[in-house]
Amino acid sequence: MESNNTNVSTLILAAGEGTRMKSKKSKVLHKVLGKSLVAHVIEAAKYAGSKKICLVIGYKGEEVKKEIGDSVFYVTQKQRLGTGHAVMQAEEFIEDEGDILVLYGDTPLITGETLKNMIEIHRRENNGVTILSAILEDPTGYGRIIRDKEGNFIKNVEQKDATKEELKVKEVNCGMYCFKSKVLKEALKELTNDNAQGEYYLTDTLHIILSKGYKVNTVIAKDNTEMLGCNSREQLSEVTQIMKRRINKKHMQEGVTIIDPENTYIEPEVVIGMDTIIYPGTYLQGNTIIGENCIIGPNSRICNSKIGDEVKIENSVILESEVNSNTTVGPFAYIRPNSNIGENVKIGDFVEIKNSNIGNNTKVSHLTYIGDADVGERVNFGCGTVVVNYDGKKKHRTIIEDDAFIGCNTNLVSPVKVHKKAFTAAGSTITKDVPQKALGIARTRQINKENWVKD
Ligand code: UD1
Ligand code: CA
Repeated sequence: MESNNTNVSTLILAAGEGTRMKSKKSKVLHKVLGKSLVAHVIEAAKYAGSKKICLVIGYKGEEVKKEIGDSVFYVTQKQRLGTGHAVMQAEEFIEDEGDILVLYGDTPLITGETLKNMIEIHRRENNGVTILSAILEDPTGYGRIIRDKEGNFIKNVEQKDATKEELKVKEVNCGMYCFKSKVLKEALKELTNDNAQGEYYLTDTLHIILSKGYKVNTVIAKDNTEMLGCNSREQLSEVTQIMKRRINKKHMQEGVTIIDPENTYIEPEVVIGMDTIIYPGTYLQGNTIIGENCIIGPNSRICNSKIGDEVKIENSVILESEVNSNTTVGPFAYIRPNSNIGENVKIGDFVEIKNSNIGNNTKVSHLTYIGDADVGERVNFGCGTVVVNYDGKKKHRTIIEDDAFIGCNTNLVSPVKVHKKAFTAAGSTITKDVPQKALGIARTRQINKENWVKD
């Protein structure tokens, strides 16, 4: 889905300390719907066609590097002397050709579409720099875009440097730009810190570029929320709510029923088939894929899992597993990583499954633990079965073949194998393999002590 813009690179400013977040970790590593703030920005830049991306890091920079990895470049800003200073640290990264996006690492709502559009307009109008701006009811705190009578861009003024008249302007600078790389490089050479805050303002490059005779213009964001930054836990939560609504809306437009979008959290990568119904309290995470006509929830969490068509999952947790078509899970089941549940299977209440394969048409209806087991087709588990997979030192595998019948309250002490069509008697602790079609009984016989109760 990447656009084929040639030669766009991106610089993302992420050196800030984020004091208001009151956190021991870098602000840009805080997450919105499972993905760090800066990872959302990186993704938008990639979508817009940016091949080379560089992060300006500072506070907890090593941590950022470790988490984001080496698909992007890094430069370190040792002292935070302003947005212009941050960009100056990346001089080596700025090329002599093409365009460069300058973005912030804490604005996860910016979309690839908006950036793509900004690049297109920037090129069509042959601007030296194109600024993303927004019209805000309350512009407090932001740089204001000042225009002449004809509407041409004259300058950006920061809140602290603005006159009373300028403060009334509602068009603000979102802090995201598309520069001609060479033009940015030239402008940086002339940047000074001669202003109210004694900082190197990146916004001063706008005036420098204009004075050199290049065109400077703005693109007004269609959606004001795209510029929102996350400087506090409250903003983090607000941004999460906005992203949640955006994602849920997209799924509904594509034919998914979401009963209560306010109480449904779907991470950006999740795929959901048509006519699936999602009940409240559902969290769908990571690279989860859900088929068509499923009923998911209420109160379920599915992470990095693949769910077939017509599957019902109620009040359950499924992690890194596969559940195939026509199967029902729950209420109150827990499917742990590396499990593969077949088609038309019933996983009932209070069942836990870990690192196991469950064949088609098998029923595990209630109160059962299956760990490290390979279970065939059409197996029936009685209530209260435990696969005793751990001997205190090692985990062992258990094999239960097709059409076996596991009686209620059986312990299967691993490693053990129950062959095809074999039965285990209720209450048995099975320590030896049960041959095909045999009945394994492993319990003491009942003795009745007559007249045991003294009157
Ligand atoms: C900046 C703009 C302002 C715009 C606003 C939009 C300037 C001078 N002003 O102001 O016009 O309306 O963004 O949000 O650019 N950062 C660094 N190193 C630094 C300073 C900042 O990496 O030395 C990073 C911060 O981590 C932050 C981003 O740059 O993510 C913005 O910096 P900030 O100081 O918050 O700029 P604003 O004052 O908000
Ligand atoms: Ca800011």
